[in-house]
Amino acid sequence: MTELERKHERAPVPSEWTYASAPEARDIVTLQERYGHYVGGEWVEPRETYTTISPASEEPLAEVGQATPEEVTAAVAAARDAFENGWSDISPAERAKYLFRIARILQERSHEFAVLESLNGGKPIKESRDVDLPLSAAHFFYYAGWADKLEYAFPNRRPRPIGVAGQIIPWNFPLLMLAWKIAPALAAGNTVVLKPAETTPLSALLFCDVLRQAELPPGVVNIVTGDGRTGAEIVKAESVDKIAFTGSTEVGKAIQRELAGTGKKLTLELGGKAANIIFDDAALDQAVEGIINGIYFNQGHVCCAGSRLLVQESIYEPVVEKLKRRLTTLRVGDPLDKNTDVGAINSKQQLDKIQELVATGEEEGAEIYQPPCRLPEKGYWFAPTVFTNVAQSYRIAQEEIFGPVLSILTFRTPEEAVEKANNTPYGLSAGVWTEKGSRILWMAERLRAGVVWANTYNRFDPSSPFGGYKESGFGREGGRHGLEPYLDLDGSQALSP
Ligand code: NAI
Ligand code: MG
Repeated sequence: MTELERKHERAPVPSEWTYASAPEARDIVTLQERYGHYVGGEWVEPRETYTTISPASEEPLAEVGQATPEEVTAAVAAARDAFENGWSDISPAERAKYLFRIARILQERSHEFAVLESLNGGKPIKESRDVDLPLSAAHFFYYAGWADKLEYAFPNRRPRPIGVAGQIIPWNFPLLMLAWKIAPALAAGNTVVLKPAETTPLSALLFCDVLRQAELPPGVVNIVTGDGRTGAEIVKAESVDKIAFTGSTEVGKAIQRELAGTGKKLTLELGGKAANIIFDDAALDQAVEGIINGIYFNQGHVCCAGSRLLVQESIYEPVVEKLKRRLTTLRVGDPLDKNTDVGAINSKQQLDKIQELVATGEEEGAEIYQPPCRLPEKGYWFAPTVFTNVAQSYRIAQEEIFGPVLSILTFRTPEEAVEKANNTPYGLSAGVWTEKGSRILWMAERLRAGVVWANTYNRFDPSSPFGGYKESGFGREGGRHGLEPYLDLDGSQALSP
């Protein structure tokens, strides 16, 4: 036992911390009672509506539109019109100007957006403030920079916009996924019809106000709200040239079937079941922080979450012990409290799914650990959970739970780690923790994952491409690669001598 461990033995971390609550004020956000669809630069009164709520309290927040097929058709027509009559012809430097403006306005209004994001989605304010908002603005800044440099991004090609992009996004990072979709599309000269997820429409609707402030020409970005039926209408719309989807593998497959043979371009960013792999030479305390960040960040509602922990057998016991001790210090509760580490589960539907999968874990024989924590009575909550004794065949080791639930498995050799990590239908991300640089490279070459983090986890940057293999989808978002799906590059032949 080391000196440090002896100290911990004598003075175990208390299982209950008493914090003074530090609630963020809500009054920076002004909600409307009712929101329409944003089409052609105008608010259109919706024909049908539903109520969007706060998942932390089940309190109704606003009425929003459930777009009908006719409303989707109108939004697509507005996007087509804006594409044909101006946007695709204005100088790239002019396009960049709008994107820079949007980025700066997002920065200026980031506090307002962060509070709204936490209110409607349930994520801790600490995360919406320090992750979602800075990254959303950074994405617009990054692609603003490419708008007038496309000829350099793709030398000897002749990059041209595609036309109208239909974009369907999920509820786990509502504004950030909007930024990932809209910024590259506009930089490349396309126009957009975007649909936020049904449980988290409010930040996308507030974003329309940013578009007005930036004086973006009408119709370049159109936002319609609604559930999967609205999404399906966007996919079907004849005048849409490209679909970008982030969400479940099930819906992704349905969209792929729908678009087969239509010639429409498609990118899919789907689920994941990432392995976070800890070797015995890793800096353990850092690795434990990486495990915590990997699976409890955003309540585990993260497609690249490190939901399968692979620990080298020789360090299994200290890792599990440190992890459990660290779990007892996580604060679960009010998303608007600045001390909160784990917020509310996004919806009743998602909570049901987590509960169902956790029950199968216990039935199949895994051992469950949850730290003592008092969950609020109203709203949707799930305590941070760790499963040990997990076999590779268990559903909790195979299926995406998309919640704060970690499954721990062990391995002996690097070869075994690779084999277990790749034993999944998904291939979005992975983490490797080791002091050996050569081993990081050896592992990264063999892991079938779009992103491999080394001695860190869940780190994002607009310049770094993100996307998956296998059932995690195809196409990349971020970086120069993220422009490709929004460009027609086939003009290359015209340039050859
Ligand atoms: P979902 O795939 O149904 O929803 C994602 C988006 O697609 C939403 O905007 C939704 O309205 C839209 N949509 C739904 N059906 C559609 C259709 N037929 N055509 C076009 N658009 C459609 O995901 P859901 O049901 O919210 O979550 C189920 C599971 O999916 C989660 O438990 C999680 O495992 C996974 N998921 C993965 C995400 C990721 O980032 N990769 C994001 C959200 C969910
Ligand atoms: Mg669904």
